[in-house]
Amino acid sequence: MNRTLIAALALSSLIFPAFAETIQERAAPCLACHGERGTSGTENTPSLGGQQAPYALIQLFMFREKLRAFEPMNEMAKSLTDDDLRLFSDFIATLPKPVPPSDAADAARMARGEALARQNRCNTCHNTDYSGKENVPRIANQREDYLAKTLAEYKDNSRHGYDATMADVMQTVARDQIGDLAHYLAHHR
Ligand code: HEC
Ligand code: HEC
Repeated sequence: MNRTLIAALALSSLIFPAFAETIQERAAPCLACHGERGTSGTENTPSLGGQQAPYALIQLFMFREKLRAFEPMNEMAKSLTDDDLRLFSDFIATLPKPVPPSDAADAARMARGEALARQNRCNTCHNTDYSGKENVPRIANQREDYLAKTLAEYKDNSRHGYDATMADVMQTVARDQIGDLAHYLAHHR
């Protein structure tokens, strides 16, 4: 064996533990915020369970490139390679779907939210059961506070999507309708 090879082997055994870490281990800090079993218990922090892998991949890429601005996520994503992004987004999609909130839904708000979703054809893109598809996210049983926050941000253009789709959609949704839409989607069954 030549010296370079021996040195390379010695080095690889030193750095091997970092690479040997499983995705479950690497995702532990993520899930401390996002919820271990796919359902987030943290204010304004999205549940990731059952999220569409292509959507998650694009969002992680956007956080890394600071195209989507949110300081803690920009920080978490900044040193991830393209392969890492794919590994995390594939893993996210395998987490159990978020469980619906335990508090009872308000019937009047549910009715208003459903009518708004129908009127604005939210389910043409997000799927009939709001489970999403490909680059369109799952929004069924997402946290109500996060849904309301992020819809308001699309509306005032402080959240930039991968394209302008949601900014366009939100032009026809009034500010005071966002709460009912979020309530309906969070409690969707
Ligand atoms: C300190 C808490 C925290 C940590 C740690 C964290 N996140 Fe996040 N993450 C958030 C918050 C809050 C948001 C929503 C940001 C916003 O409002 O735009 C978010 C957004 C996301 C999104 C977009 C979800 C969506 O529905 O648009 C993905 C994907 C994601 N995080 C994955 C990860 C991964 C993978 C890790 C670990 C490498 C991680 N997060 C670590 C708090 C955290
Ligand atoms: C023409 C297709 C289309 C329609 C119609 C549409 N959406 Fe979306 N929606 C998207 C796409 C694509 C994204 C991802 C955009 C991005 O990159 O940020 C998205 C993102 C979202 C998100 C962010 C989810 C997350 O996890 O951060 C929410 C919430 C949402 N849409 C709700 C709605 C609601 C409510 C309606 C109806 C009022 C609606 N959408 C109508 C295509 C659509």
